Amino acid sequence: MFMKERMKPKVNVLTFPSEAELNAAAAGLIVGLIQTKPDAVLGLATGGTPIGIYEELVAAYRKKLVSFRRVVTFNLDEYVGLAPGHPQSYRSYMRRHLFDHIDADPARIHIPDSTAARPEEECARYDALLAAAGRIDLQLLGIGHNGHIGFNEPDRSLPFGTHVVRLAEQTRAANARFFASPEEVPTHAITMGVGPILHARTVLLIAKGADKADILYRALTGEITTECPASLLQLHPRLIVMADQEAGRRFR
Ligand code: F6R
Repeated sequence: MFMKERMKPKVNVLTFPSEAELNAAAAGLIVGLIQTKPDAVLGLATGGTPIGIYEELVAAYRKKLVSFRRVVTFNLDEYVGLAPGHPQSYRSYMRRHLFDHIDADPARIHIPDSTAARPEEECARYDALLAAAGRIDLQLLGIGHNGHIGFNEPDRSLPFGTHVVRLAEQTRAANARFFASPEEVPTHAITMGVGPILHARTVLLIAKGADKADILYRALTGEITTECPASLLQLHPRLIVMADQEAGRRFR
């Protein structure tokens, strides 16, 4: 028992007194990366968690602290079955919260195209783009209540690359808050696989709110299993975890 504990490195969770401070710290890390590497490859997330971080990135751009002109971005996922331009598509989300407000080059922005007639071909295309870009320098992640990262839902095994996934009912229920009714939440999504996520040079995992406290603790201290995809992050050599007081309370 003692040996087991000793061999397992402890994941360091940075807890912030306020959400504003967390957002500023996370954005500062991203801005710092781009300042030293203007053509950095960023892996980006959607959902409620990163919105404040994107606001900080826009503020940094407006203050001329950073330019996104040469930055390459890959979004983690996109819903299947929403019309192009649907306000809840992740493409619309990214425009609304980030891309419409900065100088990002549209040719360097990548989001899975879930309207593709053949989704498997779209997955292969996305993987080819990721491979051509090399390693992701910084992968921004939120965490689902069931431990999903991207839309890699708990399962007995997980694919390495981009794939179509059936969303867990827990995920659809959690995301219903963004739709007019729960039935409108798509049943499927295209998601980046855990391969490129774990291959990223740095992973920045963000957790906010009391409802994330238990899953964050389980993911970072429990057994490593594809039944809790975020637990795979324990294996990452450069994992940075930022949590607010509520999400990080079990680490104090
Ligand atoms: C979003 C994504 C998801 C979310 C997760 C948490 O692109 O890949 O893994 O990060 O579902 O969602 P929020 O932030 O809404 O709690």
